[in-house]
Amino acid sequence: MGGTSGKGIAGQEEFGMRPRGFSTPLGKTFHLLISYSPFPFEQGWNRSNQYPEDCAMRNVIYVVPAPGENSLRFVRALRGLDSVRMLGIVNRRPGGIDPATAANYDHIVQVDDCMNVDQVTDVVRGFEKLYGKTHRITSALEQIQPQVAEVRARTGVEGMQPDAVARFTDKSVMKSALEKAGLPCARHTAARSPAEANAFVKKIGLPVVMKPPVGAGCRDTYLVANDDELADTLRETQPSADRPLQIEEFISGQENSFETITVNGKVHLKSVTRYYPGPLDAVRNPWIQYTIVFPKEVDEPGNRDILEVGTQAVEKLGMGSGYTHMEWFKTADGRTVISEVAARPPGVHIVPMMNYAYEQDFYRIWARAVVDDAFDGPFERKWACGVAFLRGIGSGWVSHLDGVDQISEAIGDLIVEARLPQPGVPKNSGYEGEGHIILRARDTDTIERALKFLIKTVKVYYRD
Ligand SMILES: Nc1ncnc2c1ncn2[C@@H]1O[C@H](COP(=O)(O)OP(=O)(O)O)[C@@H](O)[C@H]1O
Ligand SMILES: [Mg+2]
Repeated sequence: MGGTSGKGIAGQEEFGMRPRGFSTPLGKTFHLLISYSPFPFEQGWNRSNQYPEDCAMRNVIYVVPAPGENSLRFVRALRGLDSVRMLGIVNRRPGGIDPATAANYDHIVQVDDCMNVDQVTDVVRGFEKLYGKTHRITSALEQIQPQVAEVRARTGVEGMQPDAVARFTDKSVMKSALEKAGLPCARHTAARSPAEANAFVKKIGLPVVMKPPVGAGCRDTYLVANDDELADTLRETQPSADRPLQIEEFISGQENSFETITVNGKVHLKSVTRYYPGPLDAVRNPWIQYTIVFPKEVDEPGNRDILEVGTQAVEKLGMGSGYTHMEWFKTADGRTVISEVAARPPGVHIVPMMNYAYEQDFYRIWARAVVDDAFDGPFERKWACGVAFLRGIGSGWVSHLDGVDQISEAIGDLIVEARLPQPGVPKNSGYEGEGHIILRARDTDTIERALKFLIKTVKVYYRD
């Protein structure tokens, strides 16, 4: 999978890179690429207004403050496509970028702050002076989607523009658009003062959920069940015109996800997972080891509505090309309620589970959508999967684990990926814990039973 059309240039192999084959507009072999050139771009900056000789190369820019293993999987997939020149923008850090990270890019530039639109725009313009027009600018990171869209707008690069991205990042804009399209979501408001907040709560009643309109990972998210909690939360969050507070009717039900691969606004692949429990419950109950079931059948009767309304939501909110990741509820009385939808790949190991379940490379499938506006499916979902996030109660550092031998013996044949919490690793404050195990089986029941057994059996202990 994923050949390149690089013609190869002498000198690159010595840096341990596969041949990519292109020269700079200045006509010299491109060893800038491993120099992690400081911003601005060493020589070459402003010195050429020629276009690169090899116009067939498509300049794809990936922006992420600190590229970790997850980001690099997306970067490698982009770079694995035909005729892609992989350009990176990352945050400057002491000691620079390690060579193993840099080796994933053709040229990587450090800035003080990737979240700063001016700085990123300057680098994009610099890249354009060196290499010509930008083909795509992208990132899998939720928090940077608005900035990336703004940079696209300023530099005239194709892809989702700020107004469309706001419908996928600002929960208030998103829910208003969903309502307007007649799609089911929680009643909501963006309160600009404590008085507005109180008036809304009076209208819809408690409990409510309060959170920042733009956020991720349950950051500053409060379940408010009574008047005291309401007063406390308003005191803490201080809603104002500058810092509105998203308030939503509390939806009680099973929380799930719905992913799509979409190309130019048309949904091509639909996938569903079930969360046990929902992320907010996992955050509020530190003893819970969170799990996600990735059922074999997408077409289960309980999913019929989300396959329909979820698809409409993605299309009506103005998705471009790539992954979408939605969260939705199934209430006890069988209603389907959309919670939120992001225009980026899912986290929480859903992409790896898609790879295991479909026996495909969903990093590449995403990259094909983003860069080539192409979808190579349909793909057959051959397996059910599940993931358990490993953590325990306590503080400090991981001291040891219990139960690993038992699960290897009882369900070892289902384990396709395991990253066990390592002794000495600091406790993670999030619900994803310090490690995870992914299971795979031919049927969903086996996964459900095995996940329950797994989280009952594996225990993580800490010491201060
Ligand atoms: N209206 C709601 N009703 C019930 N639970 C909610 C509601 N809004 C948020 N939650 C819970 O809080 C979690 C985080 O909220 P969410 O809107 O998904 O923000 P983010 O994931 O961007 O932090 C959700 O996964 C869900 O568990
Ligand atoms: Mg969410």
